[in-house]
Amino acid sequence: MHRPRILRSSPAIRSLVQESSLSVNDFMVPLFVVEGKGVKEEISSMPGYYRFSLDVLRDEVREISDLGLKSVLLFVKVDDSLKDNSGTEALNPDGLMQRAIRTVKEVNPNLLVLTDVALDPFSSYGHDGIVEDGKILNDATVEVLQQMAVSHIAAGADWVAPSDMMDGRIGAIRLAFEEAGYHDAGIMAYSAKYASCFYGPFRDALDSAPGFGDKKTYQMNPANIREGLKEAMLDQEEGADMLMVKPAVAYLDVIKTIKDELLLPVSAYHVSGEYAMIKAAAEKGWLNENQAILETLTSIKRAGADVIATYFAKDAARLLNS
Ligand code: PBG
Repeated sequence: MHRPRILRSSPAIRSLVQESSLSVNDFMVPLFVVEGKGVKEEISSMPGYYRFSLDVLRDEVREISDLGLKSVLLFVKVDDSLKDNSGTEALNPDGLMQRAIRTVKEVNPNLLVLTDVALDPFSSYGHDGIVEDGKILNDATVEVLQQMAVSHIAAGADWVAPSDMMDGRIGAIRLAFEEAGYHDAGIMAYSAKYASCFYGPFRDALDSAPGFGDKKTYQMNPANIREGLKEAMLDQEEGADMLMVKPAVAYLDVIKTIKDELLLPVSAYHVSGEYAMIKAAAEKGWLNENQAILETLTSIKRAGADVIATYFAKDAARLLNS
């Protein structure tokens, strides 16, 4: 006779047999940075999430550190006047990203700083690569990505997170790091990055929506899992230190497969649209926000993610600390 409910009969036994637990150690905090002074602008499609100028970023970094969070993932929004086809501004040693890295490290040198590496916030076309005749050039883009990655590490970043999905960029960046003497710079590869509608609010945040077409010649078809596994295998072989799946909740099977088949730690990006959905439903009173946050993040952990990049990092840290 089986009585499975015995294992669910009290809070004590439920917590003893709980298989997955969230911890503040699991989360990476995405941060959006803009030029200016005293700027804290709410992103319209991401209620409760903001773009910060560097001075206000200092307070945010203190708050993140006080909550026990240990890593940030930096993104910048640059003025249209600085954008061109090859993302020249991305290489400016005194550009917004490079200054943001230095600012975070000044406030808390122990916070792990990861940076987004892709051309889209710097591209006049809003694409992740250099455009020629309406096509995205792979190898020419990879050369810029190598320089961009080196420039971020030179500014003090610990890791780069290439999110562009060009072929061969992980190996090329690893080589560039070796040549520059950056033997301990980490690479978190966006390995299985899907061409997803769930990035919509992020593109509002950075004003980085593609000016023509879509990203389907480099980001993956949401219907494919073997392709995601292949990309992750290539990134592991090319020298990545961590493999990312993105988005998270609609791709839990991809997280699980990559975790089972490969050896590197796996991260998952709970993206802007996934954040916005919970926020919108909670605003309408249709979901309990805190419960939705913890249940969602737990599902990502259960699928096998070691690390979760999420706009709910601070909320989750507060909920877990309370
Ligand atoms: C840029 C990049 C994107 C995201 C992270 N890095 C957008 C895109 O590829 O269009 C999306 C993150 C989110 O939606 O939260 N290459």
